[in-house]
Amino acid sequence: MTRHRFTPHGPEFSRLVLGTWRLLADPATCSPDGIRALLRTALEAGITTVDTAEIYGLYRVEEALGEALRGDPSLRSRLEFITKCGILVPCAGAPGRRTAHYNATASQIVTSAENSLRLLGVEALDLLLIHRPDWLTPHEVTAGALNQLLRDGKIKAAGVSNYSASQFAALSTFMDRPLVTNQLEFSPFCVTPIHDGTFDQAQQLGFAPMAWSPLGGGRLFDDHNQAGVRLRAAMTQMATRYDGATPDALTHAWVLAHPARPVSILGTTKPERVLSSARADTITLEHQDWYAIWEAAHGHQVP
Ligand SMILES: NC(=O)c1ccc[n+]([C@@H]2O[C@H](COP(=O)([O-])OP(=O)(O)OC[C@H]3O[C@@H](n4cnc5c(N)ncnc54)[C@H](OP(=O)(O)O)[C@@H]3O)[C@@H](O)[C@H]2O)c1
Repeated sequence: MTRHRFTPHGPEFSRLVLGTWRLLADPATCSPDGIRALLRTALEAGITTVDTAEIYGLYRVEEALGEALRGDPSLRSRLEFITKCGILVPCAGAPGRRTAHYNATASQIVTSAENSLRLLGVEALDLLLIHRPDWLTPHEVTAGALNQLLRDGKIKAAGVSNYSASQFAALSTFMDRPLVTNQLEFSPFCVTPIHDGTFDQAQQLGFAPMAWSPLGGGRLFDDHNQAGVRLRAAMTQMATRYDGATPDALTHAWVLAHPARPVSILGTTKPERVLSSARADTITLEHQDWYAIWEAAHGHQVP
């Protein structure tokens, strides 16, 4: 698996990343044994980087990961952990919380980071992201907390998710070290980062974005989704040029092919699908095939 340095002097991660948003969604795979099996399969495929967030599973995924890792501590040292903070929604564990909101204040970021460290059982987070911009907190305050966590060695790198290009630029102004990523929705189903300036900014500043929901959150395999049906038909036709690669592998390869150098975050909870998707790392799509996938997703030629 290719390693990907996010910025010239920044951290290195695997080019395909294991996402954990849906980790507890399937009772068949969410036991500590099931999670360990998923992590071992990812490592077997060269996927060493895990993407998580405090809010995943209504604040239970980080804990479940930590519990699984305690059962086999050798796994922890072979993995890098990326987590996110700052989305607060009402839930049983937070009785005073009335309204879903974003919070990127200094005290919230530090509290969240320290919770993540404790739950995952690691001494430092490899990368901490602000999950979504908090419109009410000055960028200078958010950057101050990230700078402090970097100085204290509690996080090794800082980044953001779902930031616009101008929000990224504004927060960057106050950072002691460059933000190393912006995690964005990107797939044949959602090409917004190509048009809204975020991928141009990544190329301009030289950082690697991260692509979430690369298979459209599963729409690729939904027989009721017309774009998904067209995409699978197109990819079945082109598979002969790529040694029979499956639609999931070809779609991740499509994401990886963008010149902004995105990494692609796998959303599956099934070890066998991790293996089929991992083939993406070996696939270089022909120029016209990349556009054929765009065409299949949109249902028409490029304008
Ligand atoms: N920063 C953010 O705001 C943000 C937002 C959303 C997600 N994320 C991150 O991005 C990761 C990926 O997002 P995602 O989960 O939406 O990814 P995705 O890969 O687009 O969608 C995953 C869904 O597709 C299904 N799937 C995958 N391969 C399949 C196959 N071969 N056949 C049938 N179904 C298949 C999975 O089901 P199975 O599990 O049954 O395979 C799952 O339900 C998340 O885990 C999270 O880490 C970040």
